[in-house]
Amino acid sequence: MNLKEQIVKEKLPQHVAIIMDGNGRWAKGKGKFRIFGHQHGVTAVRETAEACAELGVKYLTLYAFSTENWSRPQAEVNALMDLLVKTIQKELPTLNKNNIRLDAIGHLESLPDSCRKNLDDAIKETSSNDGMTLVLALSYSAKWDITKAVKQIAEDVFNGQLKSDDINDQLITKYLSTHNIPEPELLIRTSGELRISNFLLWEIAYSELYFTDILWPDFRRDDLYRAILDYQKRERRFGKTSEQTSS
Ligand code: FPP
Repeated sequence: MNLKEQIVKEKLPQHVAIIMDGNGRWAKGKGKFRIFGHQHGVTAVRETAEACAELGVKYLTLYAFSTENWSRPQAEVNALMDLLVKTIQKELPTLNKNNIRLDAIGHLESLPDSCRKNLDDAIKETSSNDGMTLVLALSYSAKWDITKAVKQIAEDVFNGQLKSDDINDQLITKYLSTHNIPEPELLIRTSGELRISNFLLWEIAYSELYFTDILWPDFRRDDLYRAILDYQKRERRFGKTSEQTSS
């Protein structure tokens, strides 16, 4: 049986989130500029999105650009923004062909106008697709999102729309930019780094974490299948005992 056939459909994660890391090192290893790694990362994005959609994963969230990434050299930031615009334009037919809806989380107002416009258009043009939702985290960081939510909650308490007693786990979730997306069951990080890097901190409270040494531009369908198979072997206890969860 190949890797894909070993995946148990009934135990498929609904939401897979990925920290795509290692583009720069991949390029450096080939004696090229960092952007060469980002360009090749697009192939991994395409393969992963298609594989997830084929399997029946409902949400795939990709950490494409963090709030902190704005501090990279300006030339790399510009090249990444340009790559995003071009990729979104180029991949639009493939998204529609695969019944994938595009969505985005993050401080989208800070993106260059051309990038923002392209993104908004692609989100609109794929809005009726109901196979899988591909969420791009752009100018995103979990601390930014949580801070924004806390500010809004404070304002709503001040305005009398909320009582401080109403504040609980579910209410906070509603104020986050991920409010209409289920929490990821599986979080993958490539490139061997064992960090979360300010990604979905609230939402991954009970996610299974999977780290692989593969650099993002080399990540292919079989690597995704390996991560899902590893996830399917785990016992998710959510703080309960093994006996409680198996009964
Ligand atoms: C991390 O590698 C990767 C990024 C900051 C950008 C990811 C972007 C893409 C794969 C391009 C296109 C994406 C979409 C969704 C169209 P790194 O640069 O931090 O690598 P390093 O740790 O080896 O330096």
